[in-house]
Amino acid sequence: MPIRDETIKAVQQTADILEVVEDYLPLKKKGQNWWALSPFTDEKTPSFSVNPQKGIFKCFSTGKGGDAISFVMEMEGIGFIEAIKILAKKYSISVEELELSEEQKEEQNEAAAHRESLYIVLNFAAEYFKNLLHNHETGKSIGLSYFKERGFLGKTIEDFGLGYSLDEWQAFNDEAEKKGYKTELLEQAGLIVRNENDKLYDRFRGRVMFPIHNVTGRVVGFGARTLKKEDKTGKKFGPKYLNSPESEVYQKSEILYGIFQAKKSIRDKDNCYLVEGYTDVISLHQAGIENVVASSGTSLTEDQIKLISRFTKNVTVLYDGDKAGIKASLRGVDLILEKGLDVKIVTFPEGEDPDSFVRNVGGEKFAKYIEDESRDFILFKTSLGLKESEANPIKKADVIRDIVTSIVKIPDAIKRSVFYRECSSLMGIDEDLLIDEGNKILIKEDQNKRFKEGRNQQFKSDSQRTDGGGVVVENKPETTSKTSTSLNDPVNFQERECVRILLEYGNQETEEGSLLYRYILEEIEQLEFNDPISKKIINEFSIALAKGEVLDSTYFTRHPDQQIKQLVVDMITEKNVISENWKKHHIIVPEKDAKLHQVVYSNVLRLKYRTLKKMCQESMELLGNAKTVDEEMEALQIFQALKQQENELAKFLGIVYS
Ligand code: CTP
Ligand code: MN
Repeated sequence: MPIRDETIKAVQQTADILEVVEDYLPLKKKGQNWWALSPFTDEKTPSFSVNPQKGIFKCFSTGKGGDAISFVMEMEGIGFIEAIKILAKKYSISVEELELSEEQKEEQNEAAAHRESLYIVLNFAAEYFKNLLHNHETGKSIGLSYFKERGFLGKTIEDFGLGYSLDEWQAFNDEAEKKGYKTELLEQAGLIVRNENDKLYDRFRGRVMFPIHNVTGRVVGFGARTLKKEDKTGKKFGPKYLNSPESEVYQKSEILYGIFQAKKSIRDKDNCYLVEGYTDVISLHQAGIENVVASSGTSLTEDQIKLISRFTKNVTVLYDGDKAGIKASLRGVDLILEKGLDVKIVTFPEGEDPDSFVRNVGGEKFAKYIEDESRDFILFKTSLGLKESEANPIKKADVIRDIVTSIVKIPDAIKRSVFYRECSSLMGIDEDLLIDEGNKILIKEDQNKRFKEGRNQQFKSDSQRTDGGGVVVENKPETTSKTSTSLNDPVNFQERECVRILLEYGNQETEEGSLLYRYILEEIEQLEFNDPISKKIINEFSIALAKGEVLDSTYFTRHPDQQIKQLVVDMITEKNVISENWKKHHIIVPEKDAKLHQVVYSNVLRLKYRTLKKMCQESMELLGNAKTVDEEMEALQIFQALKQQENELAKFLGIVYS
């Protein structure tokens, strides 16, 4: 439920970063800041710092930073509102939830009541199937003995709530009706099916039942395995596994089989094993390896990854030994990388899956096997590709592209650079070449994205920029910035520098006695910012200003938008780290005695110059791509106008850029 802005404000004003962090980490004072070992990595020397004056933390190993609220979000793996609630509790601030209108309340209540009824019938069904397994003659002789044959122990059968469905058309339906459950609900829950003649029959018949639980342990659906073999003519009795259809409480893309039973162990072990199916999860669990879930055949979805990352940032994919299985599973992994999770992979000997393997070797050996055989996913993919391209050198380019496609998905710049280096040495290929390839992919993806959004038109007739986000490309190793790759794009860099000066010095007077923020805003008014986050900050600043409020860096370090918060924290903590880059880009840093006005003036002009230069380049491309004479003429005019402005500005600045 939404909570009031006042509550959020109260928490932001009350939460003391030192107190909050100290609930999690022991801090030591050194100079102005307090330090600890980073909770986000394994490290020997403290790189995690807290600045109580500014109310922020910054982890120099991972680049993470923010205020007390973002710290709690990171540590608990939760969202903004949830973090506010935790802190409100700590500081005894009452959390007032927003009043909904009567109508909204009613709608919400109805929806909740409907979901609740679905849970109730599903729970009834689970109990019914369980009861049959343990107490019914056929349930015992067929269902239970199947599980026993598979080696499932009593406790395992209990933990996973396994059951059995009778091989009859209406056994379940009759029982449910007798107990007074509404047919409509049974249908919506996917337990019974209506045929063309409007006749109702049980969906699950003569199968062993695997209830599927959501993260809080409620039954949301079933997987059901047949116990029949094909008959003599080869005719099959339906699919081997039959699953519940989706319903209001069962969205396949949001559920992971086993998450309820696994979540505690995933958090403790700080790792989540990902397997293919029900039997793998259950066998591993029984062998004492409990941090395991299954995505049920399909590759992971975004929601499932989000679910995992509430408990850990490490995923180990355990897959069968066969080639096709490996190939298929590799495809889904890029999405996991993109979400910033670390992915390892373990393969099993030909013909074995995790279920059969653990039954063969036992839990202890299995655990050791995983430990020994875990390979980093990207390096695994690299060596796999290497083998392939040895046999077929023509494929090498494909292999490289494939690997680099995975690398560029990793959001963390430091990790990316490590992978570029390792893969380059593994493959015996120049690192620069890999990075070039990666940049090509990024640019292409960016173009595709813009094309899809219908924003591939770069200029309006008045030659104003219309595009929003520039693509962030990688620099070669010697200039790789520690903070953010887009800082290597001079325009983005200069934009961010403008934002920083605005937030840190905006309230100071210029020589003419006006205020600095006015000057900056006026000067950059006609510029469309390239970097989307800088753009957001400037927009928000201007909107607040129109209401008579001047925002500063403190406001933005408490911002609910994580990206904005992160950028501003980076700006005010990493001045010294990036100062080398600044010099390179002719950006002048205001020092104590420097004439602020001049510095700002020159920075703003340089930003204009950079922007114009980039626009010129883009219009050159437009010129090159023109298909008709008219298009060509128009592009040429734009180009000439831009070039003229660029030259004038260059003359004025007295600089010659390459
Ligand atoms: N699976 C599925 N649908 C299928 C086949 C398999 O959902 N048609 C999933 C199940 O979750 C199963 C896992 O893949 O637990 C492993 O498949 P498989 O080994 O074929 O199933 P088992 O029940 O272990 O069968 P067998 O005893 O023949 O190994
Ligand atoms: Mn199997």
